[in-house]
Amino acid sequence: MEKETLLYEGKAKKLYFTDDSNVLWVEYCDQATALNGARKEQITGKGALNNQITSLIFEKLNAEGLETHFIKKLSKTEQLNKKVSIIPLEVVLRNVVAGSFAKRFGLEEGIVLEEPIVEFYYKDDALDDPFINDEHVKFLNIASDSEIEFLKKQTRKINKILKKIWTEIGLTLVDFKLEFGRLADGSIILADEISPDTSRLWDAKGQHMDKDVFRRNIGDLIETYTEVLNLLEKTK
Ligand code: TMP
Repeated sequence: MEKETLLYEGKAKKLYFTDDSNVLWVEYCDQATALNGARKEQITGKGALNNQITSLIFEKLNAEGLETHFIKKLSKTEQLNKKVSIIPLEVVLRNVVAGSFAKRFGLEEGIVLEEPIVEFYYKDDALDDPFINDEHVKFLNIASDSEIEFLKKQTRKINKILKKIWTEIGLTLVDFKLEFGRLADGSIILADEISPDTSRLWDAKGQHMDKDVFRRNIGDLIETYTEVLNLLEKTK
């Protein structure tokens, strides 16, 4: 497989075409952002940690028979993905009250939700990724009714698998964000990444093992992500 020209550069990744039109070469970068990109820092080693963590998680999801974009890890910072057209939604699932959900409803962080809650955010940097409902998703022509139902069902199914993976290494999956994409035939598969950048993970002592250490300035991101990777590698 040959890496070709740059297709897209995001906040934390670069996507390149390859000699196979169905496959993208993805490079994870060292940039950390918060506040929708308003705060930016280079953190050496972050890209390698996220690529390795995401690769391990997606290998496990693929092994469970879930349809994902992940093909294989190429190096510490690179992986091959199936080319999809990304659906402009951040699909968030919450098991425990935290973050913007705690703020929006004036709740303490840490309350366990009886039923996990799925939320949609419209992926649009200029608009600050606003919180939207199913009817907005339809109005904006992002997805049909049946696709909306599929996204919610898949997200709940993925939550069950992820909860097992994180519980096995002693971490509580508080919440996470997923992105989905369409293949050329229109079918929807899981895309993007699953890492401590996109998930809240609390250890048994309530320590944050995720990007909140950076967002809230409460710990060292590299130390934290290295611990998460080391724990995950033991479950291979
Ligand atoms: P929130 O509480 O800030 O809405 O975040 C919910 C989850 O989604 C949390 O695990 C972090 C993740 N997330 C992203 O991956 N990207 C984003 O841009 C945002 C806002 C949240």
